[in-house]
Amino acid sequence: MKDSRTEKPGSAAGVSDVPIVSVRGLGKTYRMGDVTVSALRKVDLDIARGEFVAISGSSGSGKSTFMNILGCLDAPTAGKYLLDGREVDSLTRDELSMVRNRKLGFVFQSFNLLSRTSALENVELPLLYRKDTRPADIRKKALEALTAVGLGERVHHHPNQLSGGQQQRVAIARSMVNDPVLILADEPTGNLDTRSSIEIIGLFQGLNAHGITVVLVTHEPDIARYANRLIVFRDGDVIRDERNASPSRASQELAALPPLGNPDVTMPAPGGPAEAGRNP
Ligand SMILES: Nc1ncnc2c1ncn2[C@@H]1O[C@H](COP(=O)(O)OP(=O)(O)OP(=O)(O)O)[C@@H](O)[C@H]1O
Ligand SMILES: [Mg+2]
Repeated sequence: MKDSRTEKPGSAAGVSDVPIVSVRGLGKTYRMGDVTVSALRKVDLDIARGEFVAISGSSGSGKSTFMNILGCLDAPTAGKYLLDGREVDSLTRDELSMVRNRKLGFVFQSFNLLSRTSALENVELPLLYRKDTRPADIRKKALEALTAVGLGERVHHHPNQLSGGQQQRVAIARSMVNDPVLILADEPTGNLDTRSSIEIIGLFQGLNAHGITVVLVTHEPDIARYANRLIVFRDGDVIRDERNASPSRASQELAALPPLGNPDVTMPAPGGPAEAGRNP
């Protein structure tokens, strides 16, 4: 695959000219008996490498449909999708699973962790699928990713022994363990309290500071202000697409909150969380 890391002069650090995501005339129609639902109508969008995009819009506006197509979990019924310069439609099944596993990271509202499995084993899973990493390296990378999200002391806990915010941090460790170029997060803070939400957003900002493109769906305007770009969907169309020149910094806001009686939750410095989970 072509490396497209050409920097535009004056662009934000890590933001390149060649889009990591490019969609044209993207449509998705569901047929339910006689009824046709247009979940997406001819969406045209480019997302550059290194962007942090928030997607918002009312319930049923097509956000998850769009995210599932970006994540190659679902196929559009119209239009084109180029991921990192390659047309997804032209990929074989094997190429598609390889792209999903090696280029993309997923974080969902409901965490989607395996319940009978430790945090460590949950994070190891994407590396096991790859079949090209030695067992000792798998463990090492998973431990590094969990340490990076502040869970180095909780690696043997099962999901039901962790708080919601901690479970979502396990999911983020799992999403970053393969060094993805793009992380897709659909309502990742939807089940979390305010403080945990800011912690989670801080982790995404840290990953983004290391050049990972982040696309995050949120209902909450308060969460969208942490992104550098806001895209709003309505009835399957993009109705707003605007830049945010000065996104709020989660780490700063967290430092300003009153301390909690939860001493193991520490906010990694901006740019810190990605470091330990990435290859040297
Ligand atoms: N599998 C499906 N079969 C039929 N219709 C569907 C299917 N998935 C989604 N839809 C419809 O497509 C439209 C867009 O749904 P989507 O899940 O993308 O919305 P959303 O913006 O993510 O909403 P929410 O904020 O509630 O998660 C809705 O009208 C929904 O009912
Ligand atoms: Mg949704």
